Amino acid sequence: MSAWGSGYVTDIPYTTGWYRQQSPSIMALACLLCGVAASMPAADDAVSYLELGCGHGFGAMLLAASNPEWRVTAVDYNPAHIAAAREWAAEAGLANITFLEADLTTLAEDAAAQAIPQTDFVSMHGVWTWVPPAVQQGIVRLLRDKVRPGGVVHVSYNALPAWGSALGMARILRLVGRQHGGRSDRQASEGFKFVREMIEAEAVQLNRSEIVKVLLEKLEELPGIYLAHEYMNDAWAPCFISDVAQALSGAKLEWVASANLIENFPELTLSQEQRALVNRFDDPLLRELIKDHCIDRLLRHDLFVRGARRISPYQRDAALMALPISLNIRPQDMPLEAEMPAGRAALNPKFYRPIVAALTDGPRRIGDLLQIPELEGKRDNPAELAGILIGSELAEPVLRPDQSPSSTAQNFNRVAARRLIRSEPMSRPMGLASYRLGGAMPASVLDMVVLDRTLEGGGSLDDLMQFFHAANAVTDAEKLRAVLATCVENRLPRLRLSGVW
Ligand SMILES: C[S@@+](CC[C@H](N)C(=O)[O-])C[C@H]1O[C@@H](n2cnc3c(N)ncnc32)[C@H](O)[C@@H]1O
Repeated sequence: MSAWGSGYVTDIPYTTGWYRQQSPSIMALACLLCGVAASMPAADDAVSYLELGCGHGFGAMLLAASNPEWRVTAVDYNPAHIAAAREWAAEAGLANITFLEADLTTLAEDAAAQAIPQTDFVSMHGVWTWVPPAVQQGIVRLLRDKVRPGGVVHVSYNALPAWGSALGMARILRLVGRQHGGRSDRQASEGFKFVREMIEAEAVQLNRSEIVKVLLEKLEELPGIYLAHEYMNDAWAPCFISDVAQALSGAKLEWVASANLIENFPELTLSQEQRALVNRFDDPLLRELIKDHCIDRLLRHDLFVRGARRISPYQRDAALMALPISLNIRPQDMPLEAEMPAGRAALNPKFYRPIVAALTDGPRRIGDLLQIPELEGKRDNPAELAGILIGSELAEPVLRPDQSPSSTAQNFNRVAARRLIRSEPMSRPMGLASYRLGGAMPASVLDMVVLDRTLEGGGSLDDLMQFFHAANAVTDAEKLRAVLATCVENRLPRLRLSGVW
């Protein structure tokens, strides 16, 4: 632990990641779905975006690269993160992003805060429940000064009650890890090993928790760096939504929606009996608290608005009808069922097939899709269409449907592919910058590398195999060839339609 870190892990940098809940188009869409006014950024809007606790800043850079008109500011107190992020942004030639090395505990009162403009969208992913109360209070003061009226704030955090029965596991993991000393990731791994031994010794309090089992299974697959930042922070404390809402009310922020779009649809999240219980109350925070007892939400992604204005269903639908969307999958791969928190939901093929077919050649507005003559189903529910397709990551919102790929975004993608191949597993979900989308197109590291090679003129299967051999990235040649063929045939055309290249 460093003297300056206030108990947060600083001896090992965090992983690089992208989370679509951080994207302003997803944030604005979630607000609209819940009947709250939020402007989907228009093509030329000079949106101001702020990320607090940005780590390596990959998500912030993706947004800056996809939207040259935006002004992006990203803050972290770890100089190793900021140095790496600045180096990456300079290599990609990003001129519209500023990385600030600052401690959120006192940033609001620092002269450095003058560099942060009034902000339309803020994101804090993986910060709130991992930092001490003094940092949370500093964040609230900063938000109070910097969020524009009408601005949207995304905050993710470990939530109660889902974490309740695993609090002991997390505490033991951390304290036993500390006994071993050494770097935080090694401490986490020692703590983790000990928890396993306790499970084998049938420690009742660990063994009876389903969540402990789920978490331990997940831990097996996660890199040590992630475990260190997740489990080795002194102040880590999951909380209820009402605690976060109470704290953020100090910045005049009001809870409006979940950034996980599907969670905003009670029919897809709760059983009929559970919905009846929720519907007895008007208070949105109480409704969410009841919901949190009905489903397993270990990590909440919440959206707060400063000055939330309710809009009529008519206004909401008009805004949604005008939204263009683009398909992430091939039309023939449209699933006829989707996994929802309330169980598997059937997707009516007579409704969805004509819609995805109409998206074959590129983005279309939701209103136009709902006018397709052969479609059978509700034509007056743009919220459900947007929620299901975008919420299940089958489609993305599109901010500039007629625009060609921009050189800034392409340059960023090239740099990202070449950096990530050195540090991340090929299957890791990341994102590619797209000027057309005004955000990221979901893509694995493999997709990113294959696209880069293709643009360099080395996109044949033989060329690609040779490249991966030279990069020592081949364990099973036959399997890799099949994966590459799928990527070339299925993914590259989708990336093209999304304006990535
Ligand atoms: C779990 S990481 C999340 C990083 C990034 N948001 C992401 O999702 O990839 C939390 C980040 O918060 C930063 N952080 C922790 N305490 C902080 C503080 N007091 N001031 C500024 N940044 C802080 C850490 O350095 C770390 O990069």
